[in-house]
Amino acid sequence: MTAAKLKFAIDDGSTNVKISWIDNGELKSLISANSFRKDWKSAALLSDKRVFNYAIGATKYTYDATSDKALSTTHVEYQYDDLNLLAVHHALLKTGIEPCPVSIVVTLPITEYYNADDCQRNEANIARKKANLMRDISLNRGQLFQIVDVEVMPESLPAVLTTLVDSGVSEFTKSLVIDLGGTTLDMGVVVGEFDEVSAVYGNADIGVCMVTDAARKAMAAADSDASYLVASELVKRRQDRDFVSEVVNDESKIDWVLQKIEEKIQELGAAVAYEAKIFARNPNRVYLVGGGAPLIADAVREAYATLGDKVMLVSQAQSALAREICCYHAEDADAA
Ligand SMILES: Nc1ncnc2c1ncn2[C@@H]1O[C@H](COP(=O)(O)OP(=O)(O)OP(=O)(O)O)[C@@H](O)[C@H]1O
Ligand SMILES: [Mg+2]
Repeated sequence: MTAAKLKFAIDDGSTNVKISWIDNGELKSLISANSFRKDWKSAALLSDKRVFNYAIGATKYTYDATSDKALSTTHVEYQYDDLNLLAVHHALLKTGIEPCPVSIVVTLPITEYYNADDCQRNEANIARKKANLMRDISLNRGQLFQIVDVEVMPESLPAVLTTLVDSGVSEFTKSLVIDLGGTTLDMGVVVGEFDEVSAVYGNADIGVCMVTDAARKAMAAADSDASYLVASELVKRRQDRDFVSEVVNDESKIDWVLQKIEEKIQELGAAVAYEAKIFARNPNRVYLVGGGAPLIADAVREAYATLGDKVMLVSQAQSALAREICCYHAEDADAA
């Protein structure tokens, strides 16, 4: 077996892959959006623009950030299919490191990682994800990383590992972690400094894609067909008027588009707050992670009003999980 030279922590979410690694003792992270379509792109017009044409078996794929034909990844089966394999390899290439044998740590949604009935690891799903990522894939006119080892961790909870340890919680403190991603809402309750995980919850019907889909529909009605990526950029930069008029063609509908987005954000916040209150009525602390966290922070703060500033939006919420997993494994390696 080839020995892996490098280790990467990869939170391969359904809409974005977050990748972290240690470079000369320094923690690095980047976010790679999932936007692939079938068939290949022609060679780039400008020589500094690289084209990424992949093949898996007989199927050809290409990375296309702005295509409105981008294949959907916002479903749970994504965790085990071609698009996931593409997304992980593409993220590795984006690090700019020379392709080499690597070992990776990836993630599965809580409800895929654990059996719903007894909170035990779902070994079948974990094995399935590993096998998927060890499959053959090729890059036209280029080298890919060789994945020699895959570890799988659950989403959400590990994102607050160091935050909890540094925050001086008692052994009785119950912390609710809410992870709002593109496709799923994951929650878990941690007791003390990870002494125990007392409950997990996953809901594949609540995610930022509710807002992104509404944004796409509204954009289409304003003569601007957009990819998921462009629509989600619009959601993020909805307060940046220049950017908005850059992507919404029909100027007369800009305010209407923004209002549709705002309505969906309110709806999403209400849905998350409602589910959270049912799942954990009276936690001592609440941590918000995942790319959707900034969208729902106010709604959750309102739902847990008595907690005040113990409802915390984790900094750089979207990449928190990848960073924490990376640090955790680095410490592990140091101890070994
Ligand atoms: N600051 C922000 N404000 C609003 N939306 C954001 C912000 N940062 C990221 N997002 C959006 O949050 C969404 C979800 O991001 P995240 O990377 O957590 O999802 P994911 O891990 O791919 O999904 P899942 O965990 O459901 O598989 C993306 O659509 C992203 O555009
Ligand atoms: Mg995620």
